[in-house]
Amino acid sequence: MTSQSPLIRLDDWPAGDFAEAEGLVEGIHSSILLYRQGDTVRGYLNTCPHAGRRLDWSPGQFLATKDGLLVCAAHGASFRMDDGECVAGPCRGEALLSVAVEVRDGGVYLAP
Ligand code: FES
Repeated sequence: MTSQSPLIRLDDWPAGDFAEAEGLVEGIHSSILLYRQGDTVRGYLNTCPHAGRRLDWSPGQFLATKDGLLVCAAHGASFRMDDGECVAGPCRGEALLSVAVEVRDGGVYLAP
């Protein structure tokens, strides 16, 4: 049992969608991009490898293609969500930095 608060509760978040949460990653207060597909949740730093800008155009508001690629709001780099790799745009071949998260008790938590 832990007193850690969830980054987000699953009840508040539809599957197949993006969300943003704030949390301590390696001791640094960070914005975290969360992607949910069914019961699987992936976490990445909300920082684009191209120019270090946030990926969302407004906090928690992300652009995506119809086939589920995340599109950086700054210059349009597109990222595959299963591994964070940039597959099109100015940082093609680079990747988002992964943040370890876990799903338990109906919420998403930073993994210990
Ligand atoms: S900062 Fe994301 S594409 Fe340039």
